[in-house]
Amino acid sequence: MKPRIVVFSGAGISAESGLRTFRDFDGYWHEYRIDEVATPEGFAANPELVLRFYNQRRHEVLAAQPNAAHHAIAQLERDYEVTVVTQNIDDLHERAGSSNVIHVHGEIIKGQSSINADLVVPLTKPDIEPGDLAPDGSQLRPHVVWFGEPVLRLDEAMEAISRADKMLVVGTSLSVFPVAGLVREAPAHAEKVLIALDVAHPPQDYQFLAGRATELVPPLVQRWRKERHDT
Ligand code: APR
Repeated sequence: MKPRIVVFSGAGISAESGLRTFRDFDGYWHEYRIDEVATPEGFAANPELVLRFYNQRRHEVLAAQPNAAHHAIAQLERDYEVTVVTQNIDDLHERAGSSNVIHVHGEIIKGQSSINADLVVPLTKPDIEPGDLAPDGSQLRPHVVWFGEPVLRLDEAMEAISRADKMLVVGTSLSVFPVAGLVREAPAHAEKVLIALDVAHPPQDYQFLAGRATELVPPLVQRWRKERHDT
């Protein structure tokens, strides 16, 4: 039985792949209003604006490549049972080779019905336009969890974290609940590491490594993998 690792990631792990974060100095929320582009009310009020916002982000995701941090995390699967719980809507973990990824805030490369959140469909083209319909005849929308909507697969994420032997939190400001509360679900005995440029309130009993993910994640992964070969 391989020891279990949970990696809990946020926008910061994809920053070095060229994808913007939300709350850093050049983040999305310094340019766009959350209530206009990331709420059901915003979508109802101006679907064209919201579809355009996510179409632009989808093109950026499709043009981005996984970075050394994504690849290092995928390598962990050779020696550990790994669950990646990500707040990110990009598919960079999967493209780096991670095989068990829980997207608690959805996936931008998928669409969903605008009247039934459980009806999720693959996209047949990079943009979602007004008039593109879901199989139930409703306007298609991005498969993204907006503010005020329920997060996805939280129980599965909690379950994985509650059984973790090691927990790596990387690239998240831990500002958005309920998901940020997941960091407190790790068992007392688990080794806990937090990697970010800065975090306002680093959680208790986490070793905080301040710096870039591509610089700090690979050596941590090497150390953890070496532990398995020295046993
Ligand atoms: N390497 C490591 N960490 C980084 C890097 C980097 N190169 N660049 C930025 N960071 C860190 C910042 O220090 C910050 O802690 O990534 C974090 C980015 O924080 P946010 O922009 O708040 O992103 P995130 O925590 O993922 O936001 C959570 O908020 O708006 C919602 O749905 C959105 O999923 C998102 C959620």
